[in-house]
Amino acid sequence: MSIHIGAQEGQIADKILLPGDPLRAKFIAENFLENAVCFNEIRGMLGFTGTYKGHRVSVMGTGMGMPSISIYARELIVDYGVKKLIRVGTAGSLNKDVHVRDLVLAQAAGTTSSMIKNEWPQYDFPQIADFSMLDKAYHIAEDMELTIHVGSVLSIDAFYSDFADNNIKLGQMGIKAVEMEAAALYYLAAKHSVQALGIMTISDSLVADEDTTAEERQTTFTDMMKVGLETLIA
Ligand code: HPA
Repeated sequence: MSIHIGAQEGQIADKILLPGDPLRAKFIAENFLENAVCFNEIRGMLGFTGTYKGHRVSVMGTGMGMPSISIYARELIVDYGVKKLIRVGTAGSLNKDVHVRDLVLAQAAGTTSSMIKNEWPQYDFPQIADFSMLDKAYHIAEDMELTIHVGSVLSIDAFYSDFADNNIKLGQMGIKAVEMEAAALYYLAAKHSVQALGIMTISDSLVADEDTTAEERQTTFTDMMKVGLETLIA
């Protein structure tokens, strides 16, 4: 066991899908994995291991924000030997060309957080996705005829902010979307020499008045989970 994950050694696969919401982890386990077994219930942060097309794969919630994903990602990597981590989450569009329900593959993640700066005050450490997983995810999503954007995202600490105009300015400079976890995941992957990728579906827009129905959201999330799982086993 690690401090926040109750799994025994060997109960977690070396490939994992990481939604923010633990109930989405349960949804993925129930709908995509065979013989899924729950390995964690601590703090309700459900985690499961099963097989996808014959490959052993795990899925676990991370909670929201960089401090939360950092705790789980670090324990998964250091204490359980996970080597490939794919975040499957949501993001807000910062760009008029990026629409609700589109997929964003986060090639890089800038951040307003001080988490990484605290360790590297003199250096802007570049947070980048693992290229081989990015490349695979891109081609898998393309084959599925999904609308995909590849580029930078912005990982912020505060969902509610009176200074969101700054995020929109970054959108005007090509940043695709805003979310709250990718930069920390990429940093930890770099630190521990493992592979990480962030795939996000656009759930809302900061620059356009766009809406989705619950059903449309579910379909898009399902597509994203397929891209994530196929990328993990490719
Ligand atoms: N801001 C930050 N994180 C998000 C958003 C947003 O608008 N949408 C989904 N995750």
